[in-house]
Amino acid sequence: MAKRTIAVVGLGGIGGVAAACLALSGRHDVIACARRPIGALTFEHGDDVSRVQLTTLVEPAAATVVDWVLLCTKAQDTASVAPWLARLCGPQTRVAVLQNGIGHAERVSPHAGSAGILPAIVYYNGERIAHDHMRLRHIRGHDLLVPAGPVADEFAALLAGTPIDVGKSDAFVTFQWRKLLINVIANPVTALTRQRIGVFHRKDLHDLCLGILREAVAVGRAEGADLESDEAERIFETLLGYPSEAGTSMYFDCLAGRPLEIEALNGAVVSAARKHAIATPLNAAMLALLKSISDANAETASLSA
Ligand SMILES: NC(=O)c1ccc[n+]([C@@H]2O[C@H](COP(=O)([O-])OP(=O)(O)OC[C@H]3O[C@@H](n4cnc5c(N)ncnc54)[C@H](OP(=O)(O)O)[C@@H]3O)[C@@H](O)[C@H]2O)c1
Repeated sequence: MAKRTIAVVGLGGIGGVAAACLALSGRHDVIACARRPIGALTFEHGDDVSRVQLTTLVEPAAATVVDWVLLCTKAQDTASVAPWLARLCGPQTRVAVLQNGIGHAERVSPHAGSAGILPAIVYYNGERIAHDHMRLRHIRGHDLLVPAGPVADEFAALLAGTPIDVGKSDAFVTFQWRKLLINVIANPVTALTRQRIGVFHRKDLHDLCLGILREAVAVGRAEGADLESDEAERIFETLLGYPSEAGTSMYFDCLAGRPLEIEALNGAVVSAARKHAIATPLNAAMLALLKSISDANAETASLSA
């Protein structure tokens, strides 16, 4: 593959790992677009620790059109990167959106001009140990999954030879909903209870979790996901198998007083449900509660800025 210019927007756990992997491969020109300069990253993968030099831009005005953008902010920060996308995107640019939730193209297209949008499901764990220190952990199977097609082939080629394994699927919508199903319970319940994944072993939470999941499964099916009749139970079993000490990003964001990604998770279920006239009162309750916390966090952050 010919050398490409790649901008990674958002240098958190996911973007930091992606930027480090691409820069270490040495095959492309990698530009990190962040809110503060990062001259070099420490990157941990298994027992390997590398120091990676990065070209970082902190002002969108300094950016020019690139071949690929990897958009790696939280979903709720998408609109805030509009000035970056305006400078980075031309008609030939592809924007791979490495975010949780569904509706990636609808969320990003208004800010990306005529650039093509490639949604990606993120399966790897990217831990930001410090603003310039990231750790990659593989969870299982692929690290990223994208809808099969020529753009997916080019994206996979971009990351070939790096530790990030890209899968391609014709059943992308189904996988997207399966990931969303985990997230619509794992994130809000850990954030609201301020407890890690071990909280799901409480028997008194089971009916609530299964109720949230059954609502979301009905909506996912209406949206075209090929979900099993016992999908809710299977997802809950999967979650019970996760390490008790693991946290979720909403749990950590909640503890840190940051805005929460709730609109992209339970909010996405509630808004898709409206299209199909499906009742989702439990997801709506999660949305309202977490949105209240998120809005209060955003207000406090803006007062202290
Ligand atoms: N981390 C994981 O293991 C994991 C796993 C699966 C899925 N995901 C999903 O992947 C996405 C990214 O998650 P993450 O964990 O990497 O989030 P994160 O650690 O919060 O990082 C997001 C980054 O975006 C930056 N950002 C936000 N607005 C920006 C702006 N206007 N300009 C420049 N940079 C901006 C933030 O900058 P500041 O540092 O300045 O705030 C932060 O560095 C989310 O949708 C998440 O749910 C994450």
